[in-house]
Amino acid sequence: MSNASSIRCLITAGPTREFIDPVRFISNPSTGKMGFALAEAALQAGWNVDLIAGPVAMEEPDGAIFYPVITAEEMFHQVDALFDACDVLIMTAAVSDFRPVHPLARKEKKGEASMTIEFERTTDILMTVAQRKLHQTVVGFAAETHDVIRYAREKLESKNLDFIVANQVGQPGAGFAAESNEVTLIAADGSSVKLGPASKAAIAGELIALVTPQVS
Ligand code: CTP
Repeated sequence: MSNASSIRCLITAGPTREFIDPVRFISNPSTGKMGFALAEAALQAGWNVDLIAGPVAMEEPDGAIFYPVITAEEMFHQVDALFDACDVLIMTAAVSDFRPVHPLARKEKKGEASMTIEFERTTDILMTVAQRKLHQTVVGFAAETHDVIRYAREKLESKNLDFIVANQVGQPGAGFAAESNEVTLIAADGSSVKLGPASKAAIAGELIALVTPQVS
């Protein structure tokens, strides 16, 4: 990698939606703030940025190529299409792990007193593309409520990542929707560095500096 302007970075952000019927879906509280902050930081570092985002109420960063998606499957196809050309993939998106097996074409009337929905796993986007990485630096996020570092290290290894950002969720001042964050960046060589508590923008700047591909 000779200079910053030749680095192409692919960032995913926000939640995905998995539809039960045309008016109901399962999702999660991700707002896309961390992913958009990373896109801004990467642009400031002079990188080329492709930003793939699920449904979020955020303004597109100036200078990034923006790809809006809704479902995990749409996000998978977009990441799959752009991965080979990128130098750095950062998956901040909170991808739904499950989707209804039989989404209904028409709105379900409440009728019965209870309903059962059958779910199936969505594609693990990060694991699927990281299996074929060549020169790419692949960075995952691990949102955990407990045993944060242990689970993050397991994901780093099982998903074939170069780095994972361990992120405690479910507490004030970090994780979903918060303005600030406190994370631990863990590298594949086992080293780790704590970042924050600080604004998501400040943490994003530090993360971009730390995952920058080395000049070869
Ligand atoms: N991820 C992904 N595709 C999925 C689920 C997750 O690419 N279907 C990515 C996320 O974007 C994140 C990383 O995998 O970078 C870890 O996501 P997380 O939700 O913490 O873990 P899971 O792999 O879903 O495992 P679990 O839910 O069991 O903790």
